[in-house]
Amino acid sequence: MRVLVVGGSGFLGSEVCRRGLRAGFSVVGTFHSGSIGVPGVAGRRLDVTDRAAVRALVAQVRPDAVVATPYRYDDWTVTADGAAHVALAAAEVGARLVHLSSDALHGGRPTPYADDDPPSPVNAYGAAKAAAETAVRAIDPGAALVRTSLILGEGSKQIELCRDALAGRAVLFTDEFRCPIDVGDLADAVLELARSSYAGVLNVAGPEAVSRAELGLLVAERFGLDPAGLKTTTAAAAGVVRPSDVRLDSARAADLLRTRLRGVRELLG
Ligand SMILES: NC(=O)c1ccc[n+]([C@@H]2O[C@H](COP(=O)([O-])OP(=O)(O)OC[C@H]3O[C@@H](n4cnc5c(N)ncnc54)[C@H](OP(=O)(O)O)[C@@H]3O)[C@@H](O)[C@H]2O)c1
Repeated sequence: MRVLVVGGSGFLGSEVCRRGLRAGFSVVGTFHSGSIGVPGVAGRRLDVTDRAAVRALVAQVRPDAVVATPYRYDDWTVTADGAAHVALAAAEVGARLVHLSSDALHGGRPTPYADDDPPSPVNAYGAAKAAAETAVRAIDPGAALVRTSLILGEGSKQIELCRDALAGRAVLFTDEFRCPIDVGDLADAVLELARSSYAGVLNVAGPEAVSRAELGLLVAERFGLDPAGLKTTTAAAAGVVRPSDVRLDSARAADLLRTRLRGVRELLG
């Protein structure tokens, strides 16, 4: 099976490349400003905002499955238009599509979000991820759309943010809750979905919710750092417009997938 990992230079994308090779797939990965750091993966430069270039690359690679990960937090054309271009190109060659979405498209509420809950974005990033989903579903109703949460693991920007907050260089919110997931668990789940026929949205996140500040304390414990240095505040006090309480209910994924989605305390314990 040939898998094209769009955004193969990214944190999740490189893990999908690595595990895809290990599973015996032929893997092609794309990069934009970075590079493919996984030996054995054929690297191709691609800008997903260039519709013609995306179509040409996918037509040339002729993958059986496409994993779509690219995003830029503050760039609609990459996050939304880029996702549409990849979905269109995958559909043109009849490739199975697994699109990476985010919990950030929800507005936040105290009860967990089910797989089929519609987006309720509160900022431009959430709106772009919601628009991407709409485009992907319209182009390919058979695609799997993976809504995930904070991605942890070696080199994770979420762990780096916690380390920075423990060193007083950043601040973590006590009122922003998420369901962190390990990058390896997520990559395995994505590859399982690439081989399945699951259609539609699937929450794929860890089973435990923690606040960003609690995550900081778990990181302190895990790496032997002084928790007393942790800088915290509330999102409300900081005046940022971000969804506060977003807990993804990943029970369907836990039933469907062989991959076990581990909780944050098991990951960092
Ligand atoms: N990280 C999290 O905690 C988190 C949480 C929820 C959801 N997600 C979702 O998970 C997915 C993967 O996240 P990640 O943390 O692995 O992202 P990442 O490490 O920032 O990687 C982003 C990827 O997008 C590529 N990219 C950026 N602009 C591009 C462009 N114009 N054309 C083509 N490729 C472009 C980057 O390529 P270069 O680096 O080569 O430029 C990189 O490969 C995203 O869809 C994100 O929304 C992530």
